[in-house]
Amino acid sequence: MGSKSLLLAPLHAVQLATGTSSFKDNAIIGSPALNRHGLHVKRINLADRIARSRRRRLTRWLSKKHRDAYEDNGFVLIENVLPDEVFRALSEEVEASVFEAREMKQGDTVTRFITLSPAVLRRTPQLETFVNGDLFQGLMRYVGAGNIDPLVTLHTVLTTLGKGRPDPQQTFHSDTFHSTAKSWFFLRDVAVEDGPFSYVPGSHRLTKARLEWEYEQSLTAASSPIHPHSRGSFRASGDELAAMGHPTFVSFPVPANSLVVADTHGFHARRPSTRPSTRLAVYGSLRVGPFMPFAGPDIFDLPGLKNRKAQMLDWMRCAEAKVLRKKESQPIVGWLRPGDPAVR
Ligand SMILES: [Fe+2]
Repeated sequence: MGSKSLLLAPLHAVQLATGTSSFKDNAIIGSPALNRHGLHVKRINLADRIARSRRRRLTRWLSKKHRDAYEDNGFVLIENVLPDEVFRALSEEVEASVFEAREMKQGDTVTRFITLSPAVLRRTPQLETFVNGDLFQGLMRYVGAGNIDPLVTLHTVLTTLGKGRPDPQQTFHSDTFHSTAKSWFFLRDVAVEDGPFSYVPGSHRLTKARLEWEYEQSLTAASSPIHPHSRGSFRASGDELAAMGHPTFVSFPVPANSLVVADTHGFHARRPSTRPSTRLAVYGSLRVGPFMPFAGPDIFDLPGLKNRKAQMLDWMRCAEAKVLRKKESQPIVGWLRPGDPAVR
């Protein structure tokens, strides 16, 4: 262990009890010797047990049908979410409005984020009703195993073929070592050619084969040349998925007014686009500390703080960039309609 690692050892030890997942940046989490003795496998097993226990206290949030869909597959897909006239009104108010937007470029894909703060939701009442409604909130809280307010943004994915490196989200991967929920309520149709979200059904479960694969990855992840893999977002090849008992995946080319909520501890990817595309969705994310025994409550459910999580994250990112004098990864690019062409 070098002198820098020795100095950081107390911090790295504390991070073991948190959601910290980077094998490269944490000498304890990334230690091949400790992982040979089962550190990573113990961590992932404990997080799974705690998530299932929290989830058992959240069953009131959703129907048995949706609960069973999640338990079987790791995702829930619902089409025709809103009555036609309600969806039309929501779509019109979103598409016609101008919002302050941020953009992030990954390979040949630009993702635009529009933070849904209370002020923005006041201007888009149909969207506010959906975001704070029981269906969306219930699915997010159950799948993410936490009774907390999800982080919600408007999300536009703009893909321009042949420009830049390939999109890193196109490889099947698990976001981190514990359950997290991500969702997309699609405001426009998504065709197969548009690179739809894809998921490996059943890959949210910790089977013996999955644990063996996790063990193998944990021995070498710290020195992996693949940036997200070394940070604990493990990538899996088609052969590896098949060896884990997952020979197939499902893609979600879906009509507008469809909702997908997925546990992104399971393997998922954005399939390659075969034409320039613009996908527009309400994007939700819910991530709870993996070793938190309680499902809630959350201060962000209190009046005045509700729907402020995404806004606070923006402020924190901005402050961090200023303190560290580095560029923001998702800078503000101006006031735009959600479907406008990419600025970055
Ligand atoms: Fe992901």
